[in-house]
Amino acid sequence: MSEIAKLEALEILDSRGNPTLAVTVTLSSGVKATAKVPSGASTGKREAVELRDGDPARYGGKGVLKAKSHVETEIQNHLRGFDANGQATLDKALCALDGTPNKARLGANAILGVSLAVARASAADRGLPLYAGFGNPSANLIPAPWFNVLNGGRHADNSVDFQEFMISPVGAPSYSEGLRAAAETFHALKSVLHKKGYSTAVGDEGGFAPQAKSNEEPIELILEAIRKAGYRPGKDVVLVLDPATSEFFEDGEYIFAKSDKSRRSPAQMVELWENLLGKYPEIWALEDGVAEDDLFGWKQLTNTLGDRIQLIGDDNFVTNPELFRQGIKDGIANAILIKLNQIGTVTETFECIELARKNGYGAVISHRSGETDDTSIADLAVAAGMGQIKTGSTSRGERIAKYNRFLEIEKELGPKARYAGAGVYDRWQAVKA
Ligand code: PGA
Ligand code: ZN
Repeated sequence: MSEIAKLEALEILDSRGNPTLAVTVTLSSGVKATAKVPSGASTGKREAVELRDGDPARYGGKGVLKAKSHVETEIQNHLRGFDANGQATLDKALCALDGTPNKARLGANAILGVSLAVARASAADRGLPLYAGFGNPSANLIPAPWFNVLNGGRHADNSVDFQEFMISPVGAPSYSEGLRAAAETFHALKSVLHKKGYSTAVGDEGGFAPQAKSNEEPIELILEAIRKAGYRPGKDVVLVLDPATSEFFEDGEYIFAKSDKSRRSPAQMVELWENLLGKYPEIWALEDGVAEDDLFGWKQLTNTLGDRIQLIGDDNFVTNPELFRQGIKDGIANAILIKLNQIGTVTETFECIELARKNGYGAVISHRSGETDDTSIADLAVAAGMGQIKTGSTSRGERIAKYNRFLEIEKELGPKARYAGAGVYDRWQAVKA
């Protein structure tokens, strides 16, 4: 048995230049591992609390020295001597030590840093790659990625209200061929934008951020890019949208403040999706099509489109098993987005993935808009075996790090590697369109 011997934390920067934590654990065996914590911008209200110092003299109040000190004092004192292979026991102890329902006292950033560093150390200690160390030694399914090639909303300073326009190479025969299709499409999109006189600068997740004429124009631009790259939209490469509507839902209305200033009721928002998905059958999944506080909208959306398309809940479920259970009871969405730092421990994250599997929901592993070079989510996605991940565009080092990690996993698995591709969508009609 290898025990936790030492915990250290470092205040580092994320991809937006904001402070975040790197936590390093040393085991009694001498094995050392580090995890780096991501950070969101369009966060759900009920996410676990990311502890920030609030000291205006440092990083505009965004420092994480308090969280760092929690790791190195209270958490270290409590966990020293714990079995590093007992992830569930250790995560439970972390939650109990924090004592709040949302990890507000010690900070979800401090807690996740420790939880994930221990997962990494434990795998290394047992001589396993992280995807196998997470608990499934026969894990071999490499997910179909969603590449966020065009950014809007809170992730870009442009005229587009919808946050993410993604492409997924579901028709590729393997992960590496899918990655190539995505990168080629990304480059084709650059030339399409350039020709139209649009900026080819990128947003927070590495997608282009043009001053598009509407929230719909990006779809047309991307379809053109897919064709230009030599692929068939809706067959080789499909589209996924995350409009992140909670960000523009105010007093019961959706307000398109960045584009045409129009307003929509929840029923009208659902109607917009019905029309858009009818017009573009190449769109195979929709995340946060309505806002976290719009339960009426979620029910309406699920009733109208739930058998046609994958509807993913992000801001409403926030990777929280309790909230997700309630959502399943309410019959809303048919898939969940999985972000480790929304809940703060590895164990609770897997609890959500299991809930999804048992209830016939999809589960899509996700990065945050503020990232580091940590690649744990790639291994998490393979371990989960649910066949989908979103981790940005084929641009920006912190996004590429994850995509490159899958290449390593694919190589390591050799002939055992399977690529998720279109099979994930078989239960939705869109796949037959
Ligand atoms: P965030 O955005 O990381 O800024 O919260 C990602 C998402 O909404 O899916
Ligand atoms: Zn989202």
